[in-house]
Amino acid sequence: MKSSRLSGFYKSTLTERQQQLALLQSDIDALARGGLDLKTANRLIENVVGLYALPFGIATNFQINGRDVLIPMVIEEPSVVAGASNAAKIAGAFTASADESRMIGQIQILDLRPSLRSGQALDEAQQKILSARGEILALANSLSKTVRVVDIETRLFRDSRVGAMLVLHLIFDTRDAMGANAINTACETIAPLIENITGGRVNLRILSNLADKRLARASCNVSKEKLGDEVARGIVEAQALAEIDPYRATTHNKGIMNGIDAVALATAQDWRSIEAGAHAYAARDGHYRALTKWDRDANGDLRGEIELPLAVGIVGGTIAAHPVAQIALKILGVTSAQELASVMAVVGLAQNLGALRALVSEGIQAGHMELHARKKELLATEPHRNTRK
Ligand code: MEV
Repeated sequence: MKSSRLSGFYKSTLTERQQQLALLQSDIDALARGGLDLKTANRLIENVVGLYALPFGIATNFQINGRDVLIPMVIEEPSVVAGASNAAKIAGAFTASADESRMIGQIQILDLRPSLRSGQALDEAQQKILSARGEILALANSLSKTVRVVDIETRLFRDSRVGAMLVLHLIFDTRDAMGANAINTACETIAPLIENITGGRVNLRILSNLADKRLARASCNVSKEKLGDEVARGIVEAQALAEIDPYRATTHNKGIMNGIDAVALATAQDWRSIEAGAHAYAARDGHYRALTKWDRDANGDLRGEIELPLAVGIVGGTIAAHPVAQIALKILGVTSAQELASVMAVVGLAQNLGALRALVSEGIQAGHMELHARKKELLATEPHRNTRK
């Protein structure tokens, strides 16, 4: 097992760092090019005129469920990679897990008319759908060999500004894929069947980004000796504010997402979907709160926990097409979407620990300003980089 404690990694030259990772020369070349070529980019989206590169760094010191893991991070913000690496060193070891890859596809049904017998349009349509469960699953499952529909659920909205509506949830097991394409295809395909069954009209047919059946969790214990008593206390005080004040919770969670998004970008995930899901989950009880918890145990040691939806994949469209995503997955050494989600939850927790530790002690500007100075130096030597036409 390769150690994630690459001593002096941050002091090494860029070439030395590449060597320490023991990458193939072809991987090093791909990283230097930003991975993607114009031809592939042109196939990924519309109206392509170029490529956009970001720094690809490695956070060190992570030990997750007893395994040393190097964390590839793609991000433009200084201090994030260093913050994660330092926090991972202080925390020592993390435990993490993730639910099976259960995703929700939504079908919105309107214009439901009650029969004379029941007079209850929504309840009647709900009953019909639940009775046709077998038929719905059979049709939905005829489309993909890998992504399966495992269950259905219904939600009734008796009163909306466009009238009553019934929403059918198809519950998918997307295994190692994020699953968006397969889910949307299945929802679109079964929509006519749902209209037949209910006599209503289907409007939306799309996945839900609130992937709350696909949660990832991580935790760590940090000894008060490593942090210092005052810092441990400060972190709990900061946490208390993030639990009651959405103004602070938003910034607290932004710091968590610094880490999670950076891994999402490195591995070519749909990071907007991860962001949307994370923030919706943070507000699940009607009040926007911190995604992490920090508390002290009887010893005074700090315990940290995180839980959030993480709809990620290790197979599928962009991930397969992007050479850097493949390199990132190789560096991570993950073999399933669940494992990737677990690692990302850990990175979010570590990033939060790093930010809080700095905030309650020296402040975050100290580290930041050093890197800003380096950036300024670069711009001064290459002034054309900063000129706009
Ligand atoms: C900056 O990108 C992230 C922080 O603001 C997070 C936090 O305040 O917890 C430092």
